Amino acid sequence: MLNKIQELKDAIEALQVSSIEEIEAARIKYLSKKGEISLLFNDFRTVPNELKREIGQKLNELKTLATDKINSLKASFEDSSDASAGLDLTRTSAPYTIGTRHPLSLVKEEIISIFSRLGYTIAEGPEVEDDWHVFSSLNFAADHPARDMQDTFFIQRNPDILLRTHTSSVQSRVMEHTQPPIRIICPGRVYRNEAISYRAHCFFHQVEGLYVDKGVTFADLKQSLLYFAREMFGPDTKMRLRPSYFPFTEPSAEMDISCDLCGGKGCNFCKHTGWVEILGCGMVDPNVLDACGIDSKVYSGFAFGMGIERIANLKFRVKDLRMFSENDVRFLEEFKSVH
Ligand code: DAH
Repeated sequence: MLNKIQELKDAIEALQVSSIEEIEAARIKYLSKKGEISLLFNDFRTVPNELKREIGQKLNELKTLATDKINSLKASFEDSSDASAGLDLTRTSAPYTIGTRHPLSLVKEEIISIFSRLGYTIAEGPEVEDDWHVFSSLNFAADHPARDMQDTFFIQRNPDILLRTHTSSVQSRVMEHTQPPIRIICPGRVYRNEAISYRAHCFFHQVEGLYVDKGVTFADLKQSLLYFAREMFGPDTKMRLRPSYFPFTEPSAEMDISCDLCGGKGCNFCKHTGWVEILGCGMVDPNVLDACGIDSKVYSGFAFGMGIERIANLKFRVKDLRMFSENDVRFLEEFKSVH
């Protein structure tokens, strides 16, 4: 028995392996239930009492030796297979997927870039606003329907604190603390209490524009917006202005551009009119200038506001507005090449 123990001890100490499978084979050979060491433990019953102490001790040492050896082989094998086994330093790196810019960000960046070429800078304001900046300072009458619960999200039933329904609120914030010349665009998210459908959402994005200085006229408004339309939709784009009403501008207009799908001939997209609406605009109402601390006898200005989703829709023909906020990677990846 002592000889056998010595024999196994030598064999285990000398054990060398070249694969993880060989380690497993050695474990089975020595340590499994029917392994050689286990068999010796079975034979231990037959050892004469006076030798039991010595042989028992040797057997236990052998088992510890085998267990340690197998574990250390395993460990060294795992280390080396992680770090260097099969490592080919000349291989090109694996391609990894890069995310894409969101279509609304692409359109927003383009709008910003066009207006920055006309000297506009970016201004931002809070999404949680007060009644003054969203409505009162912008000449909304106290009973104007836009203040209604059906349109506006109020915070904790407080009629004074609300989620802004348009980015025009940034106009009054800027005018309150800046004297003209002011030339800003204000991109941001707005909220309206609308039933969600393919063409309406309870939140969407706008870019507001404001230009106030001495002698700003409607002709400046028209020319700036024509420049924008042609940069955004191509040099052949035509524009028309339809009289409209906004509390904060007088006169007010809605701007249409020629439908680029049918070239103005009329199609389903433009409802057979040849025109599609892109934004609202007008000359800043003197009441608004005065409410914000700008002398309306000295200064005049124009403003405009457009929905980013609307512009993105015209550029990319996204049929369902909800796609913009669902983060479906298949949809987002379609804009990979647009830069
Ligand atoms: N605030 C308007 C809206 O949300 C858009 C708008 C129209 C902004 C005319 C303007 C403007 O600055 O002059 O529908």
